[in-house]
Amino acid sequence: MKKSMFRVLSIVLCFALLFGSAVGTSAANDAEISRVSCVVYGDGATGRGFTWYTADETECSIEISVLGIDVTSTLDVKYDCGEWEGNYMHKAYVTGLAAGTIYSYTITAGTATHSGVFSTDNGDDIVNFIVGGDVQASSLEAFEVGQKVMETAYKFFPVAEFYATLGDYTNDSTNEEWDLYSQAFIGINSVTTHVPITGNHDSNKGWFNSMFALDTSESVQTNNGVNYSFDYGNVHIAVVNTNDMLAISNAQLTWLRNDMNSTDADWKIVLMHKAPYSLGKDIKWPDACYLQEALTEVCDATNVDLVMSGHDHMYVRTKPLNDNKVVEQKDGTTYILGGATGAKRYEFRKFILDNYFSQDILATAVAQANGEYFANGNLDNLDETNKGGIFNTISVVGGALALNTYVVNDETLEIKQIDELTIVKAQGENKITFTGENVQKSNVIDTLASFADFAAYTLGTWVPMFLKTLPDLLKEYIATGTF
Ligand SMILES: [Fe+2]
Repeated sequence: MKKSMFRVLSIVLCFALLFGSAVGTSAANDAEISRVSCVVYGDGATGRGFTWYTADETECSIEISVLGIDVTSTLDVKYDCGEWEGNYMHKAYVTGLAAGTIYSYTITAGTATHSGVFSTDNGDDIVNFIVGGDVQASSLEAFEVGQKVMETAYKFFPVAEFYATLGDYTNDSTNEEWDLYSQAFIGINSVTTHVPITGNHDSNKGWFNSMFALDTSESVQTNNGVNYSFDYGNVHIAVVNTNDMLAISNAQLTWLRNDMNSTDADWKIVLMHKAPYSLGKDIKWPDACYLQEALTEVCDATNVDLVMSGHDHMYVRTKPLNDNKVVEQKDGTTYILGGATGAKRYEFRKFILDNYFSQDILATAVAQANGEYFANGNLDNLDETNKGGIFNTISVVGGALALNTYVVNDETLEIKQIDELTIVKAQGENKITFTGENVQKSNVIDTLASFADFAAYTLGTWVPMFLKTLPDLLKEYIATGTF
């Protein structure tokens, strides 16, 4: 049932992507509806959150159908509309969907309509999805680089049930940039479910929260992004905001620990923006570096399998770690910096290795900026074909998880695989050890304690590390102009 369902969806997706338009709409009608997204709302099987924008205040509605039959009256639909930065924002929170079902939807705003499709999780233990990295664009041309990579990913991996990006959609989070993002991605965002993650460039004045209709009620509220979690089959995914003054607060760590202890899903994955392990320029600052201590402790204690991040625009995968040491795959967490899907790409900073993390824990890494292929700590293996945007596919089949990573060549759109990882484990071993409400509140005491913990880390660990690397950092700065 599931295979045939997704075969149908795949065909719909391919047609939509190949012909470059959203499903069932005319360009004239689309002109007044923009920034359309369909995201997981609460549960992958039963909830979706829709957002769309109009230039003016307009009465809006969404109609949801199965095989052309309007089923909206059987669902619970809540609307949230209001002005945002000079445009009109519309959100529809839809719950009560049936598991394992292909839905179509039509948004109506005045005389304009926009249609799309999505499918719900059927709850079995086969889950496929795509993860992209930073797009961080300002121009339409740059957004289209990310668009082409993601569309290539869907054509290559049409069984994907949703896609996540690892934050930094835009560069400055302005009306113009979100409109250009919408223009580039409205096709793909109309034919699948999206899992959004906040980047530090998206967080400006609540922009991110105004772009996506997410369920953050069972969570911890933060200033510059959102935390939420959901199940999809036998995978539990938590999305963590890393864009406040502290990359992660004690309240967030408590929320994540409880969240991961409240599931018996076989697979546990954390998605967030700032990366604990990187060879790029951003890991040298204490905010991201602090994640090596604070976040990893929670991942170790709660059997998280994968942590995927963005922020530094390159691909890095660690070996499985526990307490920052390499362990057997089944006993550790693998940390992946997912690569830039867009056009902005970073080079390796060589002084990072063995200073900010041990070379021994590096499994593979690909810098995209200059086409270097960098494996296991040496620079001997250069490959010019790595000049392109990156996407990752994840396939879970029962007790096996496969991660495959690809570069899409900028010029030819040819796909080249750059990494693969398979994890096999016994199913049914994760137990629920936390029950009850997991709504964490940041208060003055928590904030002070968070800053005290961060300050202790910064003074005790980060400052000595930074001072030790400063001569090499300055040498690189003089040679390359990059700090
Ligand atoms: Fe970033």
